[in-house]
Amino acid sequence: MTYLTRLLTGAATSLALALPAAAAEYNIAVGDGAGGTQEALGKAFIAALEEESGGEMTGKLFLNGQLGDEQDTVTAAATGTLDFSILAINNITPFSPSVGTLTLPYVILSQEDAEKVTQGEIGQQMIDQTIEDAGVRIIGWAYSGFRVLTNSKKPVSTVEDLQGLVVRVPKNEIMIETYKSWGINPTPMAWGETFAALQQKVVDGQDNPYMTVYAMKFDEVQKYVTNLRYIFSIEPLIVSEALFEGLSEEEQQQVLAAGEAATQASAEFLRSEEAKIREELVSRGMEITDPANDEKEFMDLATSTVWPKFYDQIGGKEVLNEVLTALDRPVV
Ligand code: MLT
Repeated sequence: MTYLTRLLTGAATSLALALPAAAAEYNIAVGDGAGGTQEALGKAFIAALEEESGGEMTGKLFLNGQLGDEQDTVTAAATGTLDFSILAINNITPFSPSVGTLTLPYVILSQEDAEKVTQGEIGQQMIDQTIEDAGVRIIGWAYSGFRVLTNSKKPVSTVEDLQGLVVRVPKNEIMIETYKSWGINPTPMAWGETFAALQQKVVDGQDNPYMTVYAMKFDEVQKYVTNLRYIFSIEPLIVSEALFEGLSEEEQQQVLAAGEAATQASAEFLRSEEAKIREELVSRGMEITDPANDEKEFMDLATSTVWPKFYDQIGGKEVLNEVLTALDRPVV
């Protein structure tokens, strides 16, 4: 069993001798249910943390938003009432707007792009900014894939098909404006309320990666999937900065090393699992449609109207240009 496989299966604990009785056990809030990329990142992090600290530190996952809605966990970690949280990047953006650069539509166009920006200099700048803005430190990243659109009513392949659908989005301005650029007024709603709203048909659809659709069992209440690629979902693992600052230097290094190992494990997890999960969703009755004309209409509308609206909020157009340059794309 390789180190990576052990991290992915969370099996490091079983290899270690029993944890010391005084091992520090940290609470880790997880927004999604079992089987998704957030849980995989969390398991990998715990396994690596135990290994790095020789069993002195461990963690416990609380799935399905048991410790609070994703946006609330940021506040809880900042005030020190929660240790760690794994949440979608769009739910941290309201607290640290520059991170929003990575959620601007059609900036990240592949998993490789996502890994490059998060693990490079830009990722480090965002980590520093988030500590300052939100009082939490990003120590790892889960990669979850593109947020595909699901709905219960009809196949959608064009912007016109979208008209009339009531679509839930997180309380995230960038996502709200993106749907507006496509001609509909989306419904902002907390993550924890989304399944029930889909089930009770308060909303017709939502968008999230295949891995999340599966982990949240959305296939039970949604039929149609459109392979949109407007946001590649990145899910940070955050630690309370107050907690981190209270650790010894050695412990801080162990936490950071565990976060890095979990990030690598997450990238591998998505590469190996996404296609299988997609097939599983099809076998459960979901129908997948590709956007017409290579998504050009969606892309043109979103980039031309949404990007300029957020230059100020993300810290200036140059912040976006730094990301585009790092990705070898033309600047704006
Ligand atoms: C959301 O739509 O609020 C997020 O993507 C939820 C999540 O997967 O963590």
